[in-house]
Amino acid sequence: MIELKHIKKGFGDRVVLNDVNAVMETGKCNLIIGASGSGKTVLMKCMVGLLQPDDGEICYNGNEFLNMQADDKKEIRKQIGMLFQGSALFDSLTVEENIMFPLNMFTKDTTTQKLKRVNEVLDRVNLKDANKKFPAELSGGMKKRVGIARAIVLNPKFLFCDEPNSGLDPQTSLVIDKLIKEITMEYNITTIVNTHDMNSVMEIGDHIIYMYQGYKEWEGTNKEIIFSKNELLNKFIFASDFLQDAKDMRMLEQSGKIDNNRDMDKLISNE
Ligand SMILES: Nc1ncnc2c1ncn2[C@@H]1O[C@H](COP(=O)(O)OP(=O)(O)OP(=O)(O)O)[C@@H](O)[C@H]1O
Ligand SMILES: [Mg+2]
Repeated sequence: MIELKHIKKGFGDRVVLNDVNAVMETGKCNLIIGASGSGKTVLMKCMVGLLQPDDGEICYNGNEFLNMQADDKKEIRKQIGMLFQGSALFDSLTVEENIMFPLNMFTKDTTTQKLKRVNEVLDRVNLKDANKKFPAELSGGMKKRVGIARAIVLNPKFLFCDEPNSGLDPQTSLVIDKLIKEITMEYNITTIVNTHDMNSVMEIGDHIIYMYQGYKEWEGTNKEIIFSKNELLNKFIFASDFLQDAKDMRMLEQSGKIDNNRDMDKLISNE
């Protein structure tokens, strides 16, 4: 579990995060959603220690992270896996070498032990036998899977994914989303995903935080989002008039005020 308490961050005069309070729950996919520039990446960078907030506390399983001694911070960092936007693989290294990189940095395992672990995680992301390929030889979805394999190779307790679906088609995105969710549940990880992708929100959004101009504007589950009356959230999620109409219909249908088939026909024929 990660607790964010009164997190503030600005650059110059510009306030980017304003008193953000949230709890990232264990064994769940915690999604951070919001328009471009709303502060999602800055919030994630604060959580992993790549940026220092101006104010507030970040607690990893109850332990305050920002003011920890360097050694304790290093211990927490070892428990963090990160899937960067664009995968951030080393182009000159093979898949195997990319995934082995964190093992070389943080463990004293023998080459045989490391190779065994690399093969385990490659198998987990359905990329058996891709060991000797270079990133340039992989599709976008395969690169993301290698990125996930590298992020989980040290058995992280906390997994951060910044826009895991950017640049992927909807079906490949779904495969990546499901993989992230399965891994989260299987290893009971606290997973945080920044996303723009509404399919992801509906598919894996156990816990969703909606950011608006640096504020946490709304929080809930994927089921609650359909019925939310928060105007800013609705404008963001149901951006087109068509989707807004579909949502209104769904709410009326749930309240028993409309006949679904008849009124859906109306919506489709745009009456
Ligand atoms: N290092 C920095 N220096 C100055 N301003 C920054 C810095 N990093 C981010 N910002 C600003 O902070 C704001 C939030 O940026 P952030 O990257 O968190 O947005 P985001 O919600 O992740 O957007 P996107 O969906 O486009 O990735 C933006 O206005 C950005 O310009
Ligand atoms: Mg971002």
